[in-house]
Amino acid sequence: MTIIDGKQISASIKEAVAAQVATFPEKYGRVPHLTVIRVGEDPASVVYVRNKAKACEDCGIRNTTIVLPEETTEEALLEQIQTLNADASVDGILVQLPLPRHISEARVIETIAREKDVDGFHPLHVAGLWQKTPHMSPCTPSGIMKLLEAIGIDPKGKRAVVIGRSNIVGLPVAKMLLDANATVTLCHTRTVNLPEVTRQAEILIVAAGRAKMVGADMVADGAVVIDVGMDRDPETGQLCGDVDFDAVAPKASAITPVPGGVGPMTIACLMENTVECFLRHVSC
Ligand code: GUN
Repeated sequence: MTIIDGKQISASIKEAVAAQVATFPEKYGRVPHLTVIRVGEDPASVVYVRNKAKACEDCGIRNTTIVLPEETTEEALLEQIQTLNADASVDGILVQLPLPRHISEARVIETIAREKDVDGFHPLHVAGLWQKTPHMSPCTPSGIMKLLEAIGIDPKGKRAVVIGRSNIVGLPVAKMLLDANATVTLCHTRTVNLPEVTRQAEILIVAAGRAKMVGADMVADGAVVIDVGMDRDPETGQLCGDVDFDAVAPKASAITPVPGGVGPMTIACLMENTVECFLRHVSC
């Protein structure tokens, strides 16, 4: 059984990004600039945004983090985004989700200029993913595909099961697996007899947001298990994933740990997307 080392795989991606960025001052007179907006004090978001800033530092990417209070109005946030859209020194804009409930995520996402949308959440990027036309790929699904590639797993012809149908992970990763020629089943809270479905999976992607919901009874011998969860164990309060790692690992052929699996890959892909936005920006 392989424990998939997302930290190491992401470190090599970030090293490649750093080497590329190091050539930019001479070529373009500056480095890429990513601006991250966090609204409120959601504890997970505080950590994620801090990790994104740290990754920028590691890669030589300029980072600005804007922290707005929880009570920020939707109008004020949209104005802030429009200011950044118009700021030629900014290449990438990321608004950390989730947002406070009084702010429409859809409106925020569609306000970010498509060419600065490092998350790939803009409706036109989503359309590009589903229509196979040029687009920015969302970071977590890309990170998952890169993990599979790094451990030598080709999804072609394999049965892949995805738990969770979010716009951020479940839907786009299902599409990417489909494009990689897997046979994909997308499960969710209303799926009947979930364990029976997940036991069919040769590749199981779990993005449900529920601590340790996948136990050994839900996993086939030899499955590759990718855990996107970032949860707290209700009993111990410790950080854990959607997969009960200790129970599932002995059955799996490969499994991601939490932390140190998918999380660092999301951030490495964000660095790559930021460079992509920068290169388009300086060449137009
Ligand atoms: N919240 C959880 N994952 C993500 C992500 O990939 N991007 C943004 N903007 N917010 C998130």
